[in-house]
Amino acid sequence: MRKKTASILLLCALFLAGCNNTKKDNISEITSDAASVDAAAENGGNEAAVSASDAPEINADFSSSDGGAVGRGDAVVSVCDDELASDGKALLISGRTASWNGANFDAEVFRGNTIEVSGSFRSTASAVKVSIQYNVGSNVCYAGVCGALTSESKYSSGKGSFVIPDNAEQILVYIECDTLDDIYCDSFSVKASGEYKYLPEPQQLVFVDTSDYPSLKELYKDDFRIGIATTSDMMDVEDYCELAKSQFNSMTLGNSFKPEGLLDRDATLSDLNKYMECPAVRFDGVKKELDFAVECGMTVRGHTLVWHSQTPSWIFYKDYDTSGELADRELMLKRLENYIKAVVTWADENYPGLVSCWDVVNEAADDAGGIRKSLWYQTIGEDYVQRAFEYARKYAPEGTKLFYNDYNSYQFKKQKDIIDIITPIIADGNIDGMGMQSHINTDISVPLFITALEKYADLGLEVHITELDVSAKNIDSWRENQGKYYQKFMTELLKSKRNGTNIASVTVWGLNDCLSWKAAELPLLFDDDLSRKPAFDGVVQAIEDMNVAESS
Ligand code: XIL
Repeated sequence: MRKKTASILLLCALFLAGCNNTKKDNISEITSDAASVDAAAENGGNEAAVSASDAPEINADFSSSDGGAVGRGDAVVSVCDDELASDGKALLISGRTASWNGANFDAEVFRGNTIEVSGSFRSTASAVKVSIQYNVGSNVCYAGVCGALTSESKYSSGKGSFVIPDNAEQILVYIECDTLDDIYCDSFSVKASGEYKYLPEPQQLVFVDTSDYPSLKELYKDDFRIGIATTSDMMDVEDYCELAKSQFNSMTLGNSFKPEGLLDRDATLSDLNKYMECPAVRFDGVKKELDFAVECGMTVRGHTLVWHSQTPSWIFYKDYDTSGELADRELMLKRLENYIKAVVTWADENYPGLVSCWDVVNEAADDAGGIRKSLWYQTIGEDYVQRAFEYARKYAPEGTKLFYNDYNSYQFKKQKDIIDIITPIIADGNIDGMGMQSHINTDISVPLFITALEKYADLGLEVHITELDVSAKNIDSWRENQGKYYQKFMTELLKSKRNGTNIASVTVWGLNDCLSWKAAELPLLFDDDLSRKPAFDGVVQAIEDMNVAESS
C-alpha cells in the first residue's frame, strides 16, 4: 500500500513534469526515480530518506504553464505576457475577493521536511506573502513562510523556510496578500533543505503517559484558577480529556460559544416576523464541552457574547439580507439585547452555576487607535459596548462576573484606548473584570506586562489572563527559551498576586501545540504527543520556587 502511494505520487509528479516538456515549469524537477523511493520506503517503513539531489521540487518560471498553481478561494490563476518578467511570462493571480485568496501549490510530498521557499512578485499591493496551510487531525494550521515588499513596476523576491510536521496533511503552500490587488509572480520554488525524507502518509500520534505529571490546578489552587481552551473535537480523544481533567479547573470553549456557533440563520429566515428583533439561536454545539466541564468539576469562562469576528454578517442587516441595507440602531439594540438574553439565560437554565463569567465584549479597541469601526459600531454607534454590558448585567444570574477581553492589552497605547472604552461601564457598575488575552512571544517584557495588568486591577477590576500562548522563536534552543519565559511570566504573576493584585485566573489557549490556533508557532505547554515541554516545567517551577521562597 505504501509502496503504491509512493509510486503514484512520484508518477503523478513525473507525469506533470513530462507534460510540460519545458525545463522548469510545474512540480517539475522531480528527478528522483520512483524505483529508488519505493526501495527506500520498503526499507524504512513509512519514512524514506532520499538524497537532496533526488528530492522533489516545485520550480516554476511560468514560461508556458501555471506550474501546478491552483486558484485559492475566488482567485483565478493564468499565465500571462508580462514584459517586466524575466522571460516575458508570469503567473497572474486575479479575481481575489478576500485577502486569503491567491495561488495554492500542493506541497504534500514535503511532509516532515524543512522546506525552502522563494518567489519573485510584483503587485499594486505593498507586500505579497507566501504562507502554508495544513491539517493536524481536525485542526487547520496556518503560518507565514516568507514575504516581499512589492511595487507595480518591478519584481522583488522573498525567501524563507518552514518545518512541516510529520503528522501534517492536506499541505498547501500559497501566495496571498492583505489587500484584494492582483499579484504577478515571475518565479516560485519550494524544495526540501538538507536530506529529503519521504513520508507518504501523516505519522500517527502515539500519546505518552501523562498520569505522573504534577497537576497545575493543584499547585496553583491558592493563587489562581488554571484554565484551558477546548474544542468540541478534542472531547473525542480520551488522552486529551484525561490530561485536561488532571491539569485544569477552568475551561473556555475556544469556538463553540461564539455568535458564529450559536446563531441559526435558517431558523431565523424561516419566520422573519418572529425573529426580526430576536435572531434564532441553537446550542447543540456547546453541550459536549459543557458536559465535560461538569464532569470534571471545572468552571466555564463564557467566551464571547459581542465580537466583530466569528459573528455572521447577516445579523447586521435589515431583514437579515446582506445585499440590502444595514439595520438601524433601534433594531440592532433589540437584537443585541435579545441575543445576550437568550445566551446567558440558556446557560443559567441548562447548566446552573457553571458559567462563572462572560467575556461580554471582545476586542472593541482598534489597532489604529480608538474604538474599532465594526458592524456593531456602524449600526449602533459608540455606546454599543456600554449597552452590551448593561444587557448582560440585566440578564446574567447574580454573581456572574462580566469581563471586557482584548489582545495586546498590555501595550501602553492599546491600554489607554481600552480604559477609555470601559470607563463609563465601570461608572455604571456593569463590569467586573478585565481579560488580558496574552497571545505573546518571548520578546514581550514581563515587567511591562505586569505594570499594565496592575493598572487594570487599580480600576477595581478582577484580572484574568484569558488566552495565554507564547510563540517561540525559530532558534536552536527555543524550547528552553520558551520554558524560561513561561516560568518568568508565572513567577511575576504570582508575585503580583501575593502582593495583593486581584488576579484570579490564568487560561492557556489550547492543550498541545497541534491544537493551537498558532500551531506553527508551537506556543503551548505540551507537545503533540502530550509530552511535557520545558514550557510546562517552567509553569510548575514558578509556583514551586515561590512556595519555597515564602516558606523560608
Ligand atoms: C481563535 C480560535 O482559537 C480559532 O480556532 C479560531 O479559528 C479563531 O479564533 N482572540 C480570541 C479568540 O478572543 O476567540 C480567538 O480564538 C483567538 C484570538
